[in-house]
Amino acid sequence: MFETRLTRMLGIKYPILCGGMAQLAKAELVAAVGNAGGLGFLIGSSFRTPSALSDEIKRTKGLTDKPFGVNIGIFRGTQPERVLGLIDTLAAEGVRVVETAGQSPEPYIERFHAAGIKVIHKVPAVRFARTAERVGVDAITLVGFECGGALGNDDVTTFILIPRAVDAVKIPVVAGGGVGDARGFVAALALGAEAVIMGTRFMATTECPAHPKFKEALLALQETDTVVVERPRNTHRVIRGEMVQKVLDLEKDGAAPEEIARVRGDMVGRAATDGNLNLSLVPCGQVVGLVSQIKPVAEVMQEIIQGAQALVGRLGQASFIPARTSA
Ligand SMILES: Cc1cc2nc3c(=O)[nH]c(=O)nc-3n(C[C@H](O)[C@H](O)[C@H](O)COP(=O)(O)O)c2cc1C
Repeated sequence: MFETRLTRMLGIKYPILCGGMAQLAKAELVAAVGNAGGLGFLIGSSFRTPSALSDEIKRTKGLTDKPFGVNIGIFRGTQPERVLGLIDTLAAEGVRVVETAGQSPEPYIERFHAAGIKVIHKVPAVRFARTAERVGVDAITLVGFECGGALGNDDVTTFILIPRAVDAVKIPVVAGGGVGDARGFVAALALGAEAVIMGTRFMATTECPAHPKFKEALLALQETDTVVVERPRNTHRVIRGEMVQKVLDLEKDGAAPEEIARVRGDMVGRAATDGNLNLSLVPCGQVVGLVSQIKPVAEVMQEIIQGAQALVGRLGQASFIPARTSA
């Protein structure tokens, strides 16, 4: 059940992906997602050198024999040599899939494919999805306005983006932004997605390598506790807090993007290591309002799959009375 072109392409059991997450998508989390039947992406940009990434890939392989991928951010200032170096590292380690984000991966597609690596490019708009298909990526992730992290500047929600993208391209579409439970998973598949990608939900898991206080603090957040900052060059949805307020004040005063980046430091940063959400900008989606418990990744995934099976069964009988109230 829930077999799609993507589960076949990636050799995984369930069409559930864990997106690259600055500082957090490390071996423990990525391996746990793989072991539970999904696929996670290590975050390439968190490792300063190819050999540090290589070590993390080896550590992940020590924790799972299932497939996993690596996220590669391609930004305005990214040196092509760095990306090419990372591709060599992935090829040497036998990694078979990347999530690219930021600029178009066009200059690197041939190299990825020559190394036997599938490319899933993440975009926030249908026009970028069309371009990505044209330059040869293997699948596309569309992230909607509600997503955690980078969201572009069109402010179109996942509910609209996914069917628009599915109508616009032939390659498989992954739905990102706002998925955190069985209901979101089934809705995304109903919209035509062939997998979902989650970030925010996986932050509140046992295997997420953040301070326990960081994870507990997430549980208290509502869907209204995130805000969009750093438009238009580095538009991100993050958790409201003291550091965000500093950034919003700087934006109001017309500070240069470089000045803002200097003040805020690394995304996620000390918030995750010290357990205080006020210390950094922490990417987070509106779906955090649905997250109420820290659980092992396997439990999160099983609840989604079992809940989805039940939902699909009820929908098949055209029964639209929510399970909670039907008893
Ligand atoms: C804490 C955090 C850090 C993230 N860091 C990155 C990143 O460095 N690169 C990237 O491509 N996406 C990043 N993302 C986005 C996720 O990979 C994913 O696209 C997004 O979380 C999906 O939306 P959701 O949060 O509503 O599940 C991050 C998300 C979170 C929550």
